[in-house]
Amino acid sequence: MQLHDKIFELALKRSFFFPSNEPYGGTGGFYEYGPVGVLIKHKIEGLWREMFIKSEGFHEVETSIVTPEPVLVASGHVSSFADPVVECAKCNTRIRADTLVEERHYHLHGEKWDGKLESLDHVIETKGIKCPKCKGDFGKAHMFNLMFQTGIGGERSPAYARPETAQGIFTSFPRIFKNHGTKLPLAVGQVGRSFRNEISPRKGLVRMREFTQMELEYFFNPSESSFAGFGDVSSEKMTMKISGELQEMSGKEITEKKVSSNEIMSYFLLKEWEFYKKVGIDEKRMWFRVLDDNEIPHYSKGNIDMEVDTSFGIVETIGNAYRTDFDLSQHSEHSGNNLSVFVESEKKKIMPHVLEVSMGVDRLFYCILEHCYREKDPDKNTGAGKEWEWFDFPPAIAPYHVAVYPLMTKDGLDEKAKEVTAMLRSKGLDVMYRASGSIGRRYARADEVGIPYALTIDYDTLKDGTVTIRYRNDGKQERVKIDDCETRLKECIKNQKVTL
Ligand code: GAP
Repeated sequence: MQLHDKIFELALKRSFFFPSNEPYGGTGGFYEYGPVGVLIKHKIEGLWREMFIKSEGFHEVETSIVTPEPVLVASGHVSSFADPVVECAKCNTRIRADTLVEERHYHLHGEKWDGKLESLDHVIETKGIKCPKCKGDFGKAHMFNLMFQTGIGGERSPAYARPETAQGIFTSFPRIFKNHGTKLPLAVGQVGRSFRNEISPRKGLVRMREFTQMELEYFFNPSESSFAGFGDVSSEKMTMKISGELQEMSGKEITEKKVSSNEIMSYFLLKEWEFYKKVGIDEKRMWFRVLDDNEIPHYSKGNIDMEVDTSFGIVETIGNAYRTDFDLSQHSEHSGNNLSVFVESEKKKIMPHVLEVSMGVDRLFYCILEHCYREKDPDKNTGAGKEWEWFDFPPAIAPYHVAVYPLMTKDGLDEKAKEVTAMLRSKGLDVMYRASGSIGRRYARADEVGIPYALTIDYDTLKDGTVTIRYRNDGKQERVKIDDCETRLKECIKNQKVTL
């Protein structure tokens, strides 16, 4: 069984995520986060907010999902946000043509698609590629726009579910600039759903039709592309993939060698590296890939993607793009309102440039599950060790900080455990309370969803006011006074301590 199959099975059983509309057979490309998964997702988003918004003093917005057509004409999505598709003449199945041809032909011959529809038709015809469902013939390849279309109001004015959260930030820029200091640089982020009608959604959370993005748009004066504070971190290193080669490079090096577009991009790459380590991605299995010129999106002058190694292969999880003044200029032209701003130092109006950090939450969530997954590990000689699959989540993103268990549901142990639960919850800790089942079984349940600590209330608790804290990764326990539990747990969470 492949790791992704195991993860999918565990995701269903342990309430991480499951297909949408299950009683109706599920809907391809749509997933629900279950009660456990949603807690982890919120923590990932919370940590992003902490690191990319609050600690930097940046702004956060929440803009509309339904976007009128003119906005997306200006951004280029109506004309260019499309993938090539072929349709089976017999069973009408539609398949993404570039992926089909890449899998069946290009990969086998070490070639790459040149971007022309005729080339796809040529390979499909000459190599005799047939519909995988019914073996029928495919028609000619054509472009298929990925946006979900809708209509606003009784007139049903053309509109779309946004394909990225970024456009709402660009159209809000003039007001935020005016209301928040009228100075550059200015950075605005947003966490929200985006929608893409992927032709062949696959690989669970990796290619979805509705997904969550955490995007940051950093507006700056192009003649001042330095970043205050970069000097403090510039010697830190990360792994870069340049023309297929992996190499360790510092923020300073990638800036000086012009691997990144500018110091601002270098600063955010270092920050992303830090963020990924904190949420549990294995740094030996992630890197930043510098995109070739022919891979760069229409709006960008330089792109560096975060890529993560998974059992599905390499997954792109973050796009860093130097979007220049493309979006603000386009919205100025199409709306008839000039979005340039007055810059005091130059005594003139300029169109700000934008550095974008665009992260997908769901792909990251999935990669965390793979990287934190641990097999059953009983010791060959003694038989000791875990006999269940579990998750080694960093405490910062575990669904609950601690599980609280009464040893028995009698003699006042459960009342005491409920009291301790309420006390810890009131101190801001996320606590799972479970009273039934053997204590061993309950420890296993906590491990299985990656809870780092389990606190047990036993008969000694009633006598001397102490409890045991069990550490997830080594199963060892210590006795702590109830009054000291909050401090002890918070200290362990802060230091990512998961063994005694
Ligand atoms: N605003 C720029 C933008 O949207 P992107 O590279 O198309 O850039 C950014 O998307 C991130 O959003 C990706 O790196 C990925 O993590 C996530 N993403 C994009 N399409 C996705 C999909 N179909 N399913 C899940 N996540 C997706």
